Amino acid sequence: MGDAARRWRERQSARGIPERILRDAPADPWTHTTADFTPPETPADTPSRRAARALAERAAAWTCTGASLLDVGCGGGEAAFGAAWPDPSPVARVVGTDRQVDMLAVFAGTARDRGVPHGTVHGSWPEVAGAAGRHDVVVCHHVLHNVVDLPPFLAALTSAVRGGAGGVVVEMLPEHPMAWLDPLWERFHDLQRPASATADDAVAVLGEELGTEPEVHRWERDRRLPHDAAWVARRLCLPADRVPEVEEALTGIPPRPTAVVTLVWTP
Ligand SMILES: C[S@@+](CC[C@H](N)C(=O)[O-])C[C@H]1O[C@@H](n2cnc3c(N)ncnc32)[C@H](O)[C@@H]1O
Repeated sequence: MGDAARRWRERQSARGIPERILRDAPADPWTHTTADFTPPETPADTPSRRAARALAERAAAWTCTGASLLDVGCGGGEAAFGAAWPDPSPVARVVGTDRQVDMLAVFAGTARDRGVPHGTVHGSWPEVAGAAGRHDVVVCHHVLHNVVDLPPFLAALTSAVRGGAGGVVVEMLPEHPMAWLDPLWERFHDLQRPASATADDAVAVLGEELGTEPEVHRWERDRRLPHDAAWVARRLCLPADRVPEVEEALTGIPPRPTAVVTLVWTP
């Protein structure tokens, strides 16, 4: 394992929640709620969406049958359905894979509602890569900061691209999505959080392990995910009766950042 992959691993491992805190947590601080991941009717016109759409259009022109798109860690499928919008769509089929089965239900329901041929694969990437198959476009949004062992995860994204016209689009935040709450871990749990793995670290892993130099797009998004005090209290493993304290503490830290990074590469 090279230096960049080791740095990623160490930084991600160090951000685990200590057992003494997890033991008393009233709710799982990691699980995502499907309601937060329902894809919008009209997607935001982001660099990630435009990159996936362009890859799909190129692949569709090659194949003449429309592009197949795989969404890894799909949640409700915002990335997949964003690339498929608007009609006429170059995306002929979407496949979503996620380790949370309830997310796949949202993905499949949206595909049915929008009349998009689809499939789902339940499980963890890269273990399910074989079952997910190969596709023209592979998108993976906001999943890398869940991963400790990054090289096989990234290698499987590249290997999931078939043919010569497709590619991979990864969207992530410059730092761990929960890094903005680090001052509150110190305040409520007396826990110093270590430095986060960064998007630059991921780019370094791509170069070091796969010899891949992605296009890097840095941009700002609207503040849209829930970050009210009750949501933050759950992330901090705190019970409901601490929510007012959390609310007060949130006024003393910078708001959740809005910077986003898109990485695009072709095999
Ligand atoms: C922050 S959500 C992002 C969902 C979606 N990609 C989006 O941008 O709206 C992360 C999703 O990735 C899933 N996930 C995390 N690690 C995964 C892995 N190794 N394999 C498959 N799914 C994973 C989670 O269950 C969750 O649904």
